[in-house]
Amino acid sequence: MKKILLSAVALLMLFSCQNDTTETTPENSALAQRGCASQEVLEAQLKADPTLALRMNEIEAFTQKAMLTGRLVNGKIEIPVVVNVLYKTAAENISDAQIQSQIDILNDDFNATNSDFNSTPALFSGVAANVGITFVLETVNRKSTTKTSWGTRDAMKKTKQGGLNPTSPTTTLNMWACTIGGGILGYAQFPGGSTATDGVVIDSKYFGLSGSGAYPYNLGRTATHEVGHWMNLRHIWGDATCGSDLVSDTPTHNTANYGVPAYPHYSTCTGTPVEMTMNYMDYTDDRGMYMFSNGQKSRMAAIFVSGGARAGFGI
Ligand code: ARG
Ligand code: ZN
Ligand code: CA
Repeated sequence: MKKILLSAVALLMLFSCQNDTTETTPENSALAQRGCASQEVLEAQLKADPTLALRMNEIEAFTQKAMLTGRLVNGKIEIPVVVNVLYKTAAENISDAQIQSQIDILNDDFNATNSDFNSTPALFSGVAANVGITFVLETVNRKSTTKTSWGTRDAMKKTKQGGLNPTSPTTTLNMWACTIGGGILGYAQFPGGSTATDGVVIDSKYFGLSGSGAYPYNLGRTATHEVGHWMNLRHIWGDATCGSDLVSDTPTHNTANYGVPAYPHYSTCTGTPVEMTMNYMDYTDDRGMYMFSNGQKSRMAAIFVSGGARAGFGI
């Protein structure tokens, strides 16, 4: 407390010093010069309310900390990514190029720069989102194993079980590329789970472009869908008949959609809305999904603010 008070005094002195050397005021400035009165107004407010300096001091301390711990680049969240590759066969030991292609797809899909974004029907173009979160590949860890498939019980995330522990999971998105088995393309852990198992698993066949996984799951959208879950998005049909995904600008869907449904595909739920089958959180083919909604963007952004479940990533 003493420290805060001391620095508040220092802040006050800083402002009064500036006051002494300020020569241009709105009253005496020539019209040819650009004038901004913010500093003068602030100084007047600081004189009238000594507690303002305290609050500004706290904001400054928070700002400095956020800049040190987070990755705010031009006001946007940047997510460092570590990819853990577990392989028995040569095909499972996916190339650096295949890994980078997945990072590129995530960057396109989360920034509305995917080439099919403009296929969004006019009905939904007003809510189609540029989520504005970027991904940067930090490290690729590779491990040769004897396992032919890893299942969905997180063994791949545990060094003791032959997998690889996550790296710095509160400040890094960990991805595992391995054979899952059972017809599963990928799975994610929602915010709130154990840090020891945090991240997303993508079957190596469907990781990025040019994997050995064939059409129709060949465009890297499994990771887009799973990272959506990792950022707290539910399936668009709410995992129930006419269920809720807790997002107001996505229509109610009867159930999951597969393939590439013809547009418009009507729901039989209350109000019989046209379903947003092209949303990444449905179950369509990779070429059939190409947008998040603004409501989904808000849900994702909320986990990164101070006090949010993934606040460690920045603001
Ligand atoms: N968790 C889902 C599954 O394993 C992922 C579906 C992703 N859809 C896609 N078109 N890639 O079935
Ligand atoms: Zn899913
Ligand atoms: Ca909804």
